[in-house]
Amino acid sequence: MGGAILSGLRASGADVRVTTRSAASAAQIEGATSTEDDPDANRTAVSGARVVLIGVKPLMVADLLREIAPSLDEDAIVVSVAAGVTVATMEALVAGSVIRAMPNTPSLVGLGVTGVSAGTRTTEEELAIATALFETVGQVLVVPESKLDALSTISGSGPAYVFFLIEQLTQTALNLGFSESEAATMVQGTFRGASELLAQSDADPRELRRRVTSPKGTTERAIAVLDEADLTGLFDLATAAALARAQELAASS
Ligand SMILES: NC(=O)c1ccc[n+]([C@@H]2O[C@H](COP(=O)([O-])OP(=O)(O)OC[C@H]3O[C@@H](n4cnc5c(N)ncnc54)[C@H](OP(=O)(O)O)[C@@H]3O)[C@@H](O)[C@H]2O)c1
Repeated sequence: MGGAILSGLRASGADVRVTTRSAASAAQIEGATSTEDDPDANRTAVSGARVVLIGVKPLMVADLLREIAPSLDEDAIVVSVAAGVTVATMEALVAGSVIRAMPNTPSLVGLGVTGVSAGTRTTEEELAIATALFETVGQVLVVPESKLDALSTISGSGPAYVFFLIEQLTQTALNLGFSESEAATMVQGTFRGASELLAQSDADPRELRRRVTSPKGTTERAIAVLDEADLTGLFDLATAAALARAQELAASS
């Protein structure tokens, strides 16, 4: 995830310092240093930085904040993308402003959706800086922290739901006797085409669906079967399960 945001930031011309833990990972990233090669790499990188982006696994965030806290500038903004690590946890470990963010993987192609939540010490200007940071890789929604985990169950996990739907429809195409390549062309082309049509159209999804669905036609029959299966109810259950897991992660961080 850090790599995706780094690409966007560098493309925007921002001056970014990058650290990793292993020398092997640092070797893959232009200008990166590792704590394996230099135990002070993180402290050196954050010294003098206005924005410090934390992109390590959730369970590692607290130790990392303890490590860098003494080296942070007074006006440093600490922005974390770690799932489930709360503002309260981070504010207990650093003196200044902390912000939580929840990007998603389409950030890799500049089409991300990121939720951003201010901490209790965050000013409007600091929130605007964090928003601009994530706008280098897509769109940004500012939400209260109380809604960030819910946002994550939609846009954070959402790419996985889309890929899962693509997998399922591909299997159906295979079941109908198409080859892997034909199925991939039909399904991936259709998801991409429909998304692009929606993006370029003034009509909402309901209206675009209506335009594909002739009265008494074939699509109408298919949609009736999908409707009967209560997909909204299924998505309610799936997102509730993701939300419960986010709460477990927050309790253990
Ligand atoms: N994947 C997603 O869709 C997604 C979406 C939203 C948020 N997130 C969040 O993004 C975070 C990172 O996830 P990821 O999948 O990108 O993890 P990842 O692939 O393991 O990347 C973590 C990076 O942090 C580096 N690192 C670890 N400990 C470090 C330390 N002490 N000092 C400096 N660098 C250190 C790692 O270096 P090495 O490679 O050398 O270990 C690696 O480059 C997680 O907290 C996750 O919750 C992920």
